[in-house]
Amino acid sequence: MSVNLTHTEGESNTSAGRTRWLNTTDNPQSKPLLQRDSEAFLHQSLSSPCVATIKSAEGSWIEDHDGKRYLDFHGNSVHHIGYGHPRLVAAIKQQLDELSFAPRRFTCEPAIALAEKLADLAPATLSKVLFTTGGSDANEVALKIARAATGRFKTLSFWDSFHGAGFGSASVGGEATFRSHIAGPLLPGAEHVAPFACYRCPYGHSGPDHCGLACATMVDYVLQREGDIAAVIAEPMRAVPIVPPAGFWRRVRDACHRHGTLLIMDEIPTGLGKTGKMFAFEHDDIIPDIVTLGKALGGGILPIAACIAKRDLDVCGDFAIGHYTHEKNPVTTRAALTTLEIIEDENLIERAATLGRYAMDRLQQSLSECKIVGDIRGRGVLFGIEIVQNRNTKSTGNELAEHIYYQCLNAGLSFKISQGCVLTLSPPMTIKMEELQTALSIVEQAIIDTAKSHGYRQ
Ligand SMILES: Cc1ncc(COP(=O)(O)O)c(C=O)c1O
Repeated sequence: MSVNLTHTEGESNTSAGRTRWLNTTDNPQSKPLLQRDSEAFLHQSLSSPCVATIKSAEGSWIEDHDGKRYLDFHGNSVHHIGYGHPRLVAAIKQQLDELSFAPRRFTCEPAIALAEKLADLAPATLSKVLFTTGGSDANEVALKIARAATGRFKTLSFWDSFHGAGFGSASVGGEATFRSHIAGPLLPGAEHVAPFACYRCPYGHSGPDHCGLACATMVDYVLQREGDIAAVIAEPMRAVPIVPPAGFWRRVRDACHRHGTLLIMDEIPTGLGKTGKMFAFEHDDIIPDIVTLGKALGGGILPIAACIAKRDLDVCGDFAIGHYTHEKNPVTTRAALTTLEIIEDENLIERAATLGRYAMDRLQQSLSECKIVGDIRGRGVLFGIEIVQNRNTKSTGNELAEHIYYQCLNAGLSFKISQGCVLTLSPPMTIKMEELQTALSIVEQAIIDTAKSHGYRQ
């Protein structure tokens, strides 16, 4: 089945740019692997066939089978502490020697210690925990808790959002590629509203100073009209990246309180310090009822995600809400515990805030005159550059963005394109200043060269 879907995340697997890259890259060792990969794996958008191979990864770097090295500014948001952190590798090896698995209904020390640690780190009321293997599952656990606690089943979430690939998570997600065509039917009662997106406000406003927070008002409006929504689920800062306008979350938090709706914050890519705070919701001075974490929780080595709920939401004792096989795996929980210790001991949260400020300031200055740069935004070490064809009309620069992407890959920088035209830059929190500077120089040069080669005068 072939349909014409707009690509929202990542560059296309099938574009002319991809074919050109594969045909012009000198990759004798990688080429046969890419072919075997394409033969062996089910194809899907944003995954296989692949753009490159990876043979090793260390710190901020990945290296392919032909010895080409890339600074990894994507890392699927797992590499907060860099790849292969020696302290984490050692802790995992030791745990493997001590205890490698815990079957259901047998508990173990690392799992309990991790649950206690997360409860310690989260604001006081968030203190009951459940682990899953992936983020999609953690969100579905959160949704089940919300159903049990409220006696309601409906949800409210954002168009354009991603919360995972499972049917439940895809139902609250808002991207066509996960919810249209072959995906349906999805969960009933999964209502959506347009998200906050100040540069391209879906309500047509020119910016947060002029809108009266229409996006927050709409959440309140729908909660009131429906009257029986169990939960609002959203990312506090959208990882694409889009920062909420000041006051947005306070308004939504108040609306949830008034309408008896729980607030679930999905921090799977943005949590654990990436934005310059341990939890991304801390920027907005609110406390959700449930928060989900994942991705970097396993330190970039092992898969583990978590659902952390307020203590009074421990209401599912008579039901099953997701006792996943690796719920209390001593190795994955040890990896997560050690990752949290590394983040704290190496002061990585402050580092993310400082490096992020430096990067954003530098990009604002170096690209201020560039006609194809529409917006630069982010928090901590999660920032993005939106590429446009025209700064006044803001027409999206998807082809320009793809051109920049392949030029950066050639120069040794990997990242993800979001929403067709947003260069999403998300380095590890451990990145060295010189590495960050190298990457910024590559992306600045690629943007300026692309503007010139496409006829834009500076
Ligand atoms: C915001 C958000 N939620 C949930 C998920 C799903 O996580 P996983 O792929 O571990 O299921 C992702 C993954 O990209 C995500 O970005």
